[in-house]
Amino acid sequence: MHNDLSAKELRGLFCDLGFVSDCDQLLPLLQRARKAAAISDVTVLMEGETGTGKQVLAQAIHKLDCKRRPFAFVTVHCSTITEALAESELFGHQRGAFSGAVDTRKGLFSAAHRGTLFLDDVNDLPLSLQPKLLDVLQRGILRPVGSDSEVPVDVRVIAAANRPLEPLVREGRFRLDLYHRLNVVRLFLPPLRARRADLAALMLAFAERHRTLYAPILGIEPDLLRFLESQSLYGNVRELENAVQRMLFSKAEGSSLGLEDWMRQLSSDVSQDEVDALEQSANCVWQAIFSGELGYDQALQELERRVLKSAIAVPGWTRRKIAERLHMSERALYYKMHACGLTDRLR
Ligand SMILES: Nc1ncnc2c1ncn2[C@@H]1O[C@H](COP(=O)(O)OP(=O)(O)O)[C@@H](O)[C@H]1O
Ligand SMILES: [Mg+2]
Repeated sequence: MHNDLSAKELRGLFCDLGFVSDCDQLLPLLQRARKAAAISDVTVLMEGETGTGKQVLAQAIHKLDCKRRPFAFVTVHCSTITEALAESELFGHQRGAFSGAVDTRKGLFSAAHRGTLFLDDVNDLPLSLQPKLLDVLQRGILRPVGSDSEVPVDVRVIAAANRPLEPLVREGRFRLDLYHRLNVVRLFLPPLRARRADLAALMLAFAERHRTLYAPILGIEPDLLRFLESQSLYGNVRELENAVQRMLFSKAEGSSLGLEDWMRQLSSDVSQDEVDALEQSANCVWQAIFSGELGYDQALQELERRVLKSAIAVPGWTRRKIAERLHMSERALYYKMHACGLTDRLR
C-alpha cells in the first residue's frame, strides 16, 4: 500500500502540510503519523507540551487521510468546555430539550461526521463527561439531548494531551477506560529544547510564512542560534513563532535575525502565550507543593533560583545589567543570588 519515502521526501510531505522539521530525530514520529493517517479508523493520542505542534500534526494526519479529508476537521477545546453545556455542545440537542434550546443543534460530533474529531487538551476534560464520551466512542452512536432517537457517528478521534495522561490516571483524575480507548497509536511530540536542530529551519519557515507582512530577511545569525540552544523555550514552537514575528516587525529588508533582535523583542509586551506559560509553571509548582514534594518557601526559592540562573546565562549580561533588568539594586541582587547559592557565578 505504501511506497517508502526517503527522509527528505517524508519531511517535505509534512512540511507542505504545515509541519516543519529538519532533524532526523522526528522521522520515526512522522513515519508513525503517516501510517496512522492511512488507517482511517485508528484513534491517535498525541502527548507533548503546549506549542509543540500537536494541532498542526493532527491536521496533517487529517489531510493525509484519503477517506476522511473531504469531510470536516472539528476541534473540541476540552479545557474550556463547560460541564453544564458540554453534552449539548458535543452531541447536539433537540429543539425544546431545555429552556433556551430554541433550535435543534447538531453538536460537534455530528459536525465531524465522516471526518476527524480533534479533542484538544483532553487532559482537562471534566471527569463527569468522560463516561459519556467513552460510551459514544465505543458504540459509534449518540443521542442528542432531549431526543429519543440515536444517530450513528463515524469519526476518527485524535486526542491531544499537554501533559502525560498516565499520572492523571493514577491520581484518579482521568478514567483508565477512556485512556485505554484513546491510547491506540501514541505520538509523542518532544519539546523544542529537546530538538534544537529544528530551530533554524523553523525560524526560516516562519519568516517565509509571514513574508507578506514583513520585509524578507537573509538568515539567522549564529549568535542567536547558539543562545536559543541554551534556552528552555517552555512555550515551544508557538513561542518561537511569536518571537520571530516580533523580531521581523522591527527589521529592515535584507538584514538577518541576531541575538540583539531577540533581546529587544523579549522586552516588548508580554504576550498571551507567555502568560499561559507562566500559568503553567505556577501550576507545576503548586502541584509539587500540593503533593508534599516541596514546601512553599522552598518551591518559590527554587523558582527564583532558576530565573536568576537564566539571567546569569545570558551572554554579556553583567551583574549590573541583570540588576537593571530585574529592577533591583545590585546589592539586592547580590543577596538574592547568595541566598540561592549562585554567588560563585557572579561577574
Ligand atoms: N513543526 C511545526 N512546523 C511549523 N509550525 C509549527 C510546528 N509546530 C508548531 N507550529 C506552529 O506553532 C503553533 C502552535 O502549534 P500547535 O499545533 O497549536 O501546538 P499544540 O497543539 O501542541 O499546543 C502553530 O500555530 C504553528 O504555527
Ligand atoms: Mg494546543
